[in-house]
Amino acid sequence: MFEETAIKKEITENTTNKKMFIESYGCAMNFADSEIVLSILSENGYSQSAGESDADVIFINTCSVRDNAEQKIRNRLIQLKNNKKHKPDLVVGILGCMAERLKTKLLEEENLVDIVAGPDSYRDLPNLLKNVGGGNKSINVILSLEETYAEISPVRINSNGVNAFVSIMRGCDNMCSFCVVPFTRGRERSRDVKSILTEIKQLSKNGYKEVTLLGQNVDSYLWFGGGPKKDFESLSEIEKQNSVNFARLLELVAQVDEKMRIRFSTSHPKDITDEVLYTIKKYPNITNYIHLPAQSGSSRILEVMNRNYSREWYLQKIARIKEIIPDCGISCDIISGFCTETEFDHNETLSLMEKCEFDFSYMYNYSERPGTLAERKMKDDVAIEDKKRRLTEIISLQNKISKNKNKNREGKVYRVLIEGASKRNKEEYMGRSDQNIVVIFNKLNYQPGDYVDVLIERSTTTSLIGKIIAKAEKP
Ligand code: SAM
Ligand code: SF4
Ligand code: F3S
Repeated sequence: MFEETAIKKEITENTTNKKMFIESYGCAMNFADSEIVLSILSENGYSQSAGESDADVIFINTCSVRDNAEQKIRNRLIQLKNNKKHKPDLVVGILGCMAERLKTKLLEEENLVDIVAGPDSYRDLPNLLKNVGGGNKSINVILSLEETYAEISPVRINSNGVNAFVSIMRGCDNMCSFCVVPFTRGRERSRDVKSILTEIKQLSKNGYKEVTLLGQNVDSYLWFGGGPKKDFESLSEIEKQNSVNFARLLELVAQVDEKMRIRFSTSHPKDITDEVLYTIKKYPNITNYIHLPAQSGSSRILEVMNRNYSREWYLQKIARIKEIIPDCGISCDIISGFCTETEFDHNETLSLMEKCEFDFSYMYNYSERPGTLAERKMKDDVAIEDKKRRLTEIISLQNKISKNKNKNREGKVYRVLIEGASKRNKEEYMGRSDQNIVVIFNKLNYQPGDYVDVLIERSTTTSLIGKIIAKAEKP
């Protein structure tokens, strides 16, 4: 779910003669934030540039999660600095996690950008833009305990009109020892339930068929009237009565439109509850799919990672998911070569993968991040060749599991929401099953946004290939 692919996005609207262009890197939350930035700036008169070359302002919305993500962005900023030689009035702004992490560094030491804006300061962008020019630079990297951009209606970018992201919370309070996110996104806070429902009702009206509720730890969503995160136990009686937890939010969202599929990401193994699992089971339009990052299969490494669960806890959660939702798709994130990881720990990860049989996983080498607990207190002591070899073993095991699981799906029928043309063959459609497996099939007379039943004839490691056998009315 959290990939480092860059998508170049063009921005519409108009009123002044200033044009902007935004490019997003990192996780889905960053892509959702770019739509908030677009909304704020289009309200303030900025209009679309047809491409990067005719933009007056270029924003790069950035990711700091691994060093290679930052290196890629740094190269892009150097390229833009060179472009400025031919276009001295061009304003370049850095947004998002790298802006928050590096603060003034990119302005002062490297003179790479004109504006630096952290994830909680996007309402200030119109001011920041006013103050640049003639050598002036501007910065706002203040993190907030309350900002959720709740009432801002995102302007969808490069949308297929079928799927949309909806942020339900911001920040993270978990402090996994390897992770930079709590430092770049600040403290956890939940968004007003009413504003979430309003946004989803509007999406439904506009014909969208799938929403993905986004948060770093959706299971700890708790709306009780606003403000920084509190635990349920510490709420007043009135707050308790009016509070909405993640299971209840899922239920409210599912009731908006029975023809709209509801997805969510990311769940945390320590926090996902039976109440959430039973809510998924109860509503056919909540997809049977959970992204449940394990990170490691070794209890000792999980403790060093400060994940707050053990291997046994994780395996029990998977067993519970399979018991309550037997055909649930499950995916995972795994980090190879975290501090002190031995061959034994690595084998524990491989055996956890064998036991859980994830449908797919996002797999990474550990990358030390400045400011994290691991960087301050631990040694990045797994040799790079061991990290890489272990990662290769993890990836080939996952490929074997995915291939086998997909093979077993041949001959079965899956309900698929059509998302658009397949990337490989424009004559075919691509969609996803309830379990979030990619399905490729013939177009016939159907349109993106339609639900169809597809008979699976062939499969690969990453997708199912089949033919439509019937139209369906809902998920
Ligand atoms: N909040 C989610 C969770 O707890 O699973 C994940 C958020 S993080 C942005 C996405 C993934 O990046 C993590 O699940 C982890 O696998 C990976 N990741 C985070 N920090 C990393 C690091 N320092 N090195 C390698 N991978 C990392
Ligand atoms: Fe990072 Fe852990 Fe928070 Fe996920 S739960 S964002 S891995 S600190
Ligand atoms: Fe996302 Fe990267 Fe920030 S994964 S939260 S954009 S560090």
